[in-house]
Amino acid sequence: MVNAMAEKSIDTCNKKLKQSAGRVAIITGASSGIGLDLLKALASRGIRAVGCARSISRIEELCIDLNDKVSGHISAFKCDVRIEHEVKSMFEFACKKYGSVDILVNNAGVGHDAPLLTGDTECWKNILDINILGLSICTREFYQHSLSCGVDNGDIINICSIVGHVVPPSPRNHFYSASKHAVTALTEGTRQELSEKESNIKISQISPGLVHTAFHLKLMNDEQRGEEYYKLNSCLDPRDVSQSVLYLLSTPAHVCVHEVIIRPTQQLV
Ligand SMILES: NC(=O)c1ccc[n+]([C@@H]2O[C@H](COP(=O)([O-])OP(=O)(O)OC[C@H]3O[C@@H](n4cnc5c(N)ncnc54)[C@H](OP(=O)(O)O)[C@@H]3O)[C@@H](O)[C@H]2O)c1
Repeated sequence: MVNAMAEKSIDTCNKKLKQSAGRVAIITGASSGIGLDLLKALASRGIRAVGCARSISRIEELCIDLNDKVSGHISAFKCDVRIEHEVKSMFEFACKKYGSVDILVNNAGVGHDAPLLTGDTECWKNILDINILGLSICTREFYQHSLSCGVDNGDIINICSIVGHVVPPSPRNHFYSASKHAVTALTEGTRQELSEKESNIKISQISPGLVHTAFHLKLMNDEQRGEEYYKLNSCLDPRDVSQSVLYLLSTPAHVCVHEVIIRPTQQLV
C-alpha cells in the first residue's frame, strides 16, 4: 500500500515536470555557476528561459550552442538587479518574447570579504542591494506580472544558503550570512502574503552548502586562493542545485516544499 502510494507520487512528479515544458522562467545571475547550469537544465526540459546578469556574453554563447539542440529555449538579457527599471524591462522582454513568466529563480548573489569590525561600507551596501533588494524587486515584479497576465500557478525559488540558517565562524562571511538570513525571512514573509491573497503561486528556497563556482574566487578577490579553498573542502556541483530546482518544479499543485537544504556530505556547518 505504502509502495503504491509512493509510486503514484513519483508518477505525479514526473508528469508535473513534463508539464513544465513550455513554461517561461527568469533566472537572475545566469552568467556563471549555479544560474548558468540551471539555464541548461531548464531548457533541456522544454522550458523557455531568460537568463540575466550584468555581463551576458556567456549566456549568449549558451544560446548559440544550445538553442538548436533543446526542446526549450534560452534568451540572454542584460540586467543589473540593483536597477529597478532594468528589472522591469527584463519582465517586459520575457512577456513580449514568450507570452508570460511562470517561474522566477532569484539566484543572483554576491559576497565580499568585509568583516563586521573592519569591513568596507560599500561592500556591505552592495550585498544588501543585490542579495536583499534585488531579490525583493524581482519577486514583486513577478507577482505583479502574474496578476496582469493571469498566471496563478507560478513558482518562485530563492537561492539562499546554509549560512542563511547558521552564522559560520568566518568573519569574511558574517555580513553575507546576515543577508542570507534576510532571504530566509523574505521567503517566509512572501509565502504568508501569497497565502493571504489566496494565490496559488508557490515560493520555496534552496539553501546550499559549499558549491564549486566562481563565488569564492570573487569573494576572496583572488582566483588562486579561491580555487585552493574549493580544493581543500568538499563541494557540491552546480548540477546538484539544478536538480533541486527540478524537484521543486515537479511537485503537484497542492504541494509546496518550503525549503531544500543541500550540503556536501562531509560539510561540518
Ligand atoms: N557557491 C557557493 O558556495 C554558494 C553556496 C550557497 C549559496 N550560494 C548562492 O548561490 C547563488 C549563485 O551563486 P554562484 O555560486 O553561482 O556564484 P557565481 O558563479 O559568482 O554567480 C553569481 C551570478 O550572479 C550574477 N550577479 C552578480 N551581481 C549581479 C547583479 N547586480 N545583477 C544581476 N546579476 C548579478 C553574476 O553575473 P554578473 O557578475 O555578470 O552580473 C553571476 O551570474 C548566489 O545567490 C549565492 O549566494 C552559493
